[in-house]
Amino acid sequence: MSRDTLTITDNRTGKQYEFPIEDGTIRALDLRQIKVNEKDFGLMTYDPAFNNTAACKSRITYIDGDRGVLLYRGYPIDQLAEKSSYLETAYLILNGELPTAPQLQQWTEHITLHTIIHENVKKFMDGFHHDAHPMGMLVSTIGALSTFYPDAKDIFNPSSRLKQTYRLIAKIPTLAAFAYRHSMGMPYAYPDNDLSYAGNFLNMLFKMTEVKYKPNPVLEKALDVLFILHADHEQNCSTSAMRGVGSSHVDPYSAIAAATAALYGPLHGGANEAVIRMLNEIGDVKRIPAFIQRVKAGEEKLMGFGHRVYKNYDPRARIIKGIAEEVFEVMGRNPLLDIAVELERIALDDEYFIKRKLYPNVDFYSGIIYQAMGFPTDMFPVLFAIPRTSGWVAQWVEMLLDSEQKIARPRQIYLGAGLRDYIPVDSRPSAP
Ligand code: COA
Repeated sequence: MSRDTLTITDNRTGKQYEFPIEDGTIRALDLRQIKVNEKDFGLMTYDPAFNNTAACKSRITYIDGDRGVLLYRGYPIDQLAEKSSYLETAYLILNGELPTAPQLQQWTEHITLHTIIHENVKKFMDGFHHDAHPMGMLVSTIGALSTFYPDAKDIFNPSSRLKQTYRLIAKIPTLAAFAYRHSMGMPYAYPDNDLSYAGNFLNMLFKMTEVKYKPNPVLEKALDVLFILHADHEQNCSTSAMRGVGSSHVDPYSAIAAATAALYGPLHGGANEAVIRMLNEIGDVKRIPAFIQRVKAGEEKLMGFGHRVYKNYDPRARIIKGIAEEVFEVMGRNPLLDIAVELERIALDDEYFIKRKLYPNVDFYSGIIYQAMGFPTDMFPVLFAIPRTSGWVAQWVEMLLDSEQKIARPRQIYLGAGLRDYIPVDSRPSAP
């Protein structure tokens, strides 16, 4: 008779153990019962980089990496990209259900109300060097917000959490735009609350001397779709940082600063910047075969390809490739697209990439669009952090309210020196 259990025989002792299987997992702590003797600590699993370890139960985002499926709260990403807006999607991610019309209106009003930042935050940003990376500025200023909102420490108070949620989703585009204007040596442009979330962001970035900035509707829509695509992606590096740092019960600004820092890395949110650099280096479709040879020889990485979870085409990459043409109609064609499309065609036909299930990920085409929209490459990870804020906050709240969660504290396998006595410096043997 079949049972939802796992039986393990420890060949060191001949003992058998039976553990329940729930949701396709066994409890790692059950393994601690497996001991060779009473003094033994018990068996652990070794899983560097958490390749096969579920660290939480979540109801937010579902990915089927083999089939290339991404759902937010059950809704397919392509339907949301086509029919929803970023603010509505953020509401869905945070609350579990799509809002009613009055709920959406109220939510939008609350976010819009919080777009302005304290003047001292602006002064704080003035202190950065003229060529400071906007992502470095964003990480620091998000962290600094915790000092402006000490009420954020009240993390188990739902109304305080909601207020910080409004503030975070509303203010991060302002910080991002101010970081951009600072790096360009331009005066800051204040939020215009008559505009949509994406439209206002474009206003704060690109407004010049005109009295009222009018965002191009194609670019406004494209940016909003890009925001939807980046809103959440379950337990990736930055979200794990958010949950891990948040598990110490620090305020959400500090935790989001940590998550943003994780996103800064080239293997995560910095990959689209690396894609542009790679495409520029290739420079011509004729040089693609030689580049592919170098990738296969392990000398280069094909940036924007491969994913820990997707072993199929990333559904977000397909949507982004689709909106690229609309953006190019307004902004002119980005010549790097031809190199990218040919690179993808060759790679998807090559045994090396097929065998390893390496497909384009979200970053392969996003940088090309951002560049066509006039963003410098430094801004790419910033554009990722803005919409991911809603996902980070949703994951943080889910972690806080999960009675099974505690402060994150992985185990280690210690392979260092055994116990030994301290030797005074004069008595130490000279270095070889
Ligand atoms: N180019 C060339 N080879 C790649 C590759 C890439 N972009 N990504 C993975 N591989 C190869 C690895 O070398 C490895 O080959 P091997 O089995 O011969 O050693 C194999 O594919 C498995 O890769 P692995 O490093 O185990 O996958 P991972 O899950 O640890 O890494 C990424 C996932 C995303 C970090 C990795 O694919 C990568 O660095 N991609 C480029 C950066 C990028 O686009 N990041 C954005 C992610 S959204």
